[in-house]
Amino acid sequence: MSITTADDVRLTAALQYASDQKDQAIDSLKSFVRIPSISTEKSARPEMERAAAWVGGRLQQLGAQNVRTFQTEGAPIVYGELLKASPEKPTVLVYGHYDVQPVEPLGLWESLPFEPEVRGEHLFGRGASDMKGQILAVLTALDALAQTGGLPVNFKFMIEGEEEIGSPNLDKFIIEHKELLASDFALNPDAGMIGRDYPTITYGLRGLAYFEIQITGPDHDLHSGLFGGVVHNPAQVLCELIAGMHDASGRVTLPGFYDRVRQLEEAERDELRRLPVDEIYYRRQTGCSRFFGEEGYSLVERASARPTLEVNGLYSGFTGEGSKTVLPAKAMAKISCRLVPDQDPFEVREQLSQYLHDHTPPTVRSELTMHSAGYPSITNLDHFAVQAMQRALEATWGVRPLVRREGGSIPVVASMQKYLGIESVLTGFSLPEDNLHAPNEKLHLPTFERGVQALVRFFTYL
Ligand code: BES
Ligand code: MN
Repeated sequence: MSITTADDVRLTAALQYASDQKDQAIDSLKSFVRIPSISTEKSARPEMERAAAWVGGRLQQLGAQNVRTFQTEGAPIVYGELLKASPEKPTVLVYGHYDVQPVEPLGLWESLPFEPEVRGEHLFGRGASDMKGQILAVLTALDALAQTGGLPVNFKFMIEGEEEIGSPNLDKFIIEHKELLASDFALNPDAGMIGRDYPTITYGLRGLAYFEIQITGPDHDLHSGLFGGVVHNPAQVLCELIAGMHDASGRVTLPGFYDRVRQLEEAERDELRRLPVDEIYYRRQTGCSRFFGEEGYSLVERASARPTLEVNGLYSGFTGEGSKTVLPAKAMAKISCRLVPDQDPFEVREQLSQYLHDHTPPTVRSELTMHSAGYPSITNLDHFAVQAMQRALEATWGVRPLVRREGGSIPVVASMQKYLGIESVLTGFSLPEDNLHAPNEKLHLPTFERGVQALVRFFTYL
């Protein structure tokens, strides 16, 4: 061991402490995962409160001051601060979300989603990876620093409970608490990594515009023999409308959809080509052998730097066992668009509304509602905190971190740029195979432990 300076001694002590604490960290994570904080379910309101209280309690244990739970129209937002380093040192705003996605289909889980279980190298449970485990990684790293040499920089925490439904009440909170949240930059550990041997910094996120379309025809379900042939079937109309939303080259046909899309520069395309994300990667991750998408773009470009329109759910008529001859009165689709800079989710709503207006036949009525809206973002990679993260990941994994655009969405990143004027360092220790949003979500524990070590280094290098 080569110890050269006092800082190195402290770093070594903190890394050792973190590694000694790993069983406690996993126990703590298990108690967090046991809280079924599913933000989309209205009946889970008490669980959201419990999860928020759990986070607040953990911040207090860490020695945080001014720990507060702010009520919103939805789930509460937890705030806290650790401002013990000198005021010249930077202040990091740690972002996290304590909410999780629904668990259905429950039958496909090998152990219950809210009864966390370690099997092999993984901790299984809803939220283990997205992102309760990531919050725990930060708290564990901070605890290790606090217990050894002390915290090298200042911290504020903003942990919300509605990320998985598009953070509908977060912007208002940020706007109303600008002073409280004022920081030098944000750490957002919700962005995952490309593979366990590929530490990753994400600099681009897609936005999201989420819709529901209802097609209504007759005023009640009809006998398909008595009325089939004279009544326009809403399910058929909906399918035709959806079919028309893409053209033969895989492009979205909504009028004006691509108008604001920032074109990829050749230099960036070259960088994206170097990522270890090829056809084989997508085969392994998806089980598909052939792929689809917009002509003229590589798979990684299509999945991160180009906008999309996806059907997330379809419902109409009879879907039970056996057969029933019915002509349904209604058909419904959930549709969402992933957006890239500089698209605007509210403009996309107008485009979809125009499309429905132009293409819905006079035999039925269509109705459009928007469930959530989040803006896309691009982060400046020259930021000093991004560079500190690059060094920290490299020192931990022994390889240069990859830098990528991500296809998923974390709307708070654009909101922080807009309202707080700060950039986010986006990384995380979830893996593509962690079954995020799916049955058997899991956290790879050795990667989690490395993540904690990387965070200890990151905070020290700052
Ligand atoms: N953590 C994910 C997004 C993510 C996953 C980013 C993996 C990078 C790598 C986040 O919790 C998420 O799923 N967000 C939703 C947001 C939406 C509801 C606005 C998403 O992308 O679907
Ligand atoms: Mn997440």
